[in-house]
Amino acid sequence: MHFKDKTVLVTGANRGIGKALVEALLKKDVKRVYAGARTVSTLPDFGDSRVTGLQLDITNRSQINKAAEFASDVDIVINNAGVAAFAGLLDGPVDVIQRDMNTNFYGTLNVVRAFVPYLETKKESAIVNVVTIGAFVNFPAIGGYCASKAALFSMSQGIRIELAPKGIAVHTVNPGPIDTDMIKGLDTKKTNPAQAAENILAGVESNEADIFPDAGGKGMFEMWNHNYKDLESAISRMHHS
Ligand SMILES: NC(=O)c1ccc[n+]([C@@H]2O[C@H](COP(=O)([O-])OP(=O)(O)OC[C@H]3O[C@@H](n4cnc5c(N)ncnc54)[C@H](OP(=O)(O)O)[C@@H]3O)[C@@H](O)[C@H]2O)c1
Repeated sequence: MHFKDKTVLVTGANRGIGKALVEALLKKDVKRVYAGARTVSTLPDFGDSRVTGLQLDITNRSQINKAAEFASDVDIVINNAGVAAFAGLLDGPVDVIQRDMNTNFYGTLNVVRAFVPYLETKKESAIVNVVTIGAFVNFPAIGGYCASKAALFSMSQGIRIELAPKGIAVHTVNPGPIDTDMIKGLDTKKTNPAQAAENILAGVESNEADIFPDAGGKGMFEMWNHNYKDLESAISRMHHS
């Protein structure tokens, strides 16, 4: 997969990893970037006429359908938009846990469903779902978020199998801690979003099905891959310390 002359949609493009992805894409020879945002006025000025702002709340079905019709020339959909409730599974408010699931799983699924009919008409197309290393192991402080992302990872595996005959590649992106608003209260080593974005695009270009764009996430995946119980034990020790 090459980004040259491709048209790419990035959801949640107004800040964090999404904004960094738009900036990284502009350094490639892309034809156009649709920068999706719940509120278009919050999009930064990317200073490049190849960027088109697109109103897209991924929990709003009619906005999703309108966006897909408007951006029907898209070759690559990067499902980056997401929310994370710092709420425990046992004692957190159920409505915020539901919000994570509605956004991260159902919202992303609805975006995928709306864009597939257009993507399948393209010569070379892809769906890139931004998941998290927390899909592999549950961090109890964000237990509902991790569960929603595990569902997203599973959905990505399923659609990868379904869409392969249509020539649509499906990638997952599984970051560890990235320095954005989402984890601003967390005191841990974080990777710069610009670096993560570059690594995500490099992973797509080299056809990695599951992309680990930062050292933190990669290290945790290696532990999981060696023995998934090792990672669960490490998280348990951290949680109870
Ligand atoms: N930061 C990390 O450590 C980390 C690690 C693993 C995975 N991730 C994932 O990376 C992705 C980007 O997160 P981030 O770190 O960049 O977080 P962020 O700075 O909090 O940005 C989240 C983005 O998602 C958008 N968004 C939230 N709900 C939306 C909705 N219903 N419709 C459309 N857009 C919506 C936000 O828009 P508004 O400005 O309108 O709220 C914002 O642009 C998320 O999927 C997250 O789960 C992040």
